[in-house]
Amino acid sequence: MAKKPEKKEPTTTGHSWDGVEEFNNPLPRWWLITFYLTIIWGIGYIIAYPAIPLINGATPGLLGYSSRAEVQKDIDEVNARNAPLVERVNQLELAAIAGDEEVGSFAVNGGRAVFATFCSQCHGSGAAGALGYPNLLDNDWLWGGTVEDIYETISVGIRSDTNIDTRFSQMPAFGEFLSKEEIGVLAQEVSAFSGINGASSTEEGALLYADNCSACHAVDGTGDRFQGAPNLTDAIWLYGSNLAALEKTITESRFGVMPAWSGRLSESQIRQASVYIHSLGGGE
Ligand code: HEC
Ligand code: HEC
Repeated sequence: MAKKPEKKEPTTTGHSWDGVEEFNNPLPRWWLITFYLTIIWGIGYIIAYPAIPLINGATPGLLGYSSRAEVQKDIDEVNARNAPLVERVNQLELAAIAGDEEVGSFAVNGGRAVFATFCSQCHGSGAAGALGYPNLLDNDWLWGGTVEDIYETISVGIRSDTNIDTRFSQMPAFGEFLSKEEIGVLAQEVSAFSGINGASSTEEGALLYADNCSACHAVDGTGDRFQGAPNLTDAIWLYGSNLAALEKTITESRFGVMPAWSGRLSESQIRQASVYIHSLGGGE
């Protein structure tokens, strides 16, 4: 009769804590194999993909993969898909884009994206403007509210120093020619146009206005779009309507600058932005 093999007593590591000893069993085979596989996989990864950091960038890897290139590929795909639409936006008359079945909504949505990226920091995310930055939602326009006017404004900018065709005008700083009292009288006269600040027109004010201001803001105060001179008879004020704000405007003048976008945005982006702004409610 074969002898039952004696159960081998496992060796211990020799460590003992309060009489509790540690067995010295080999690692389970499945565990070891997994462990070696992860090492092999890791080496393969380092060879195939960008991995080891260097001073500028990382080792490129044999597959030539880069997350930047993946994103660029996605962008190129979208651009290629939109190319016919972009082409059509560029071909159509500006005024016909919004009503075009094929590209109308494409242009408005594209314009909204352009606006959010390039314009909202000054004009506000909803285009409602801020002190010194005009509201683009209303039908009060400094330089004109047809889609062609808006296109021109966006392309060449206003008082931009990067575009020689920029829309330009400059109100003189009347603090250099007129006394403080005269400027106070003028602030009252301007207020009287729209009945604000409890002001009424005076003979002196009317004379000062006619001599100094009417060439740009028109005899009746309704402004002049060729010079971007605001209408002074409405309730819309770019730089504030209280007497102190009016006196400051008249004394120092203002110099609102809108960047020129031709060259920085594509023709199609400028057209889309124009159509979008025109669609906001104040377009003429
Ligand atoms: C750096 C700030 C700034 C940025 C960015 C900017 N604007 Fe302007 N924008 C202005 C200012 C300031 C004016 C008013 C200038 C003036 O006083 O005549 C203006 C005026 C305008 C006007 C004319 C409004 C009128 O009443 O005639 C339009 C249209 C306009 N901006 C559209 C845009 C669009 C579209 C973009 C983005 C592509 C943009 N703006 C980006 C500052 C900015
Ligand atoms: C050469 C043309 C010119 C003359 C002359 C002129 N203005 Fe202006 N005025 C402008 C322009 C352009 C603006 C807009 C400035 C800007 O947006 O940076 C303006 C802006 C203003 C504003 C600010 C309006 C607002 O919505 O906040 C007031 C107020 C004003 N002018 C009053 C006067 C008075 C009063 C006089 C005469 C003493 C005068 N202007 C003479 C061109 C002129």
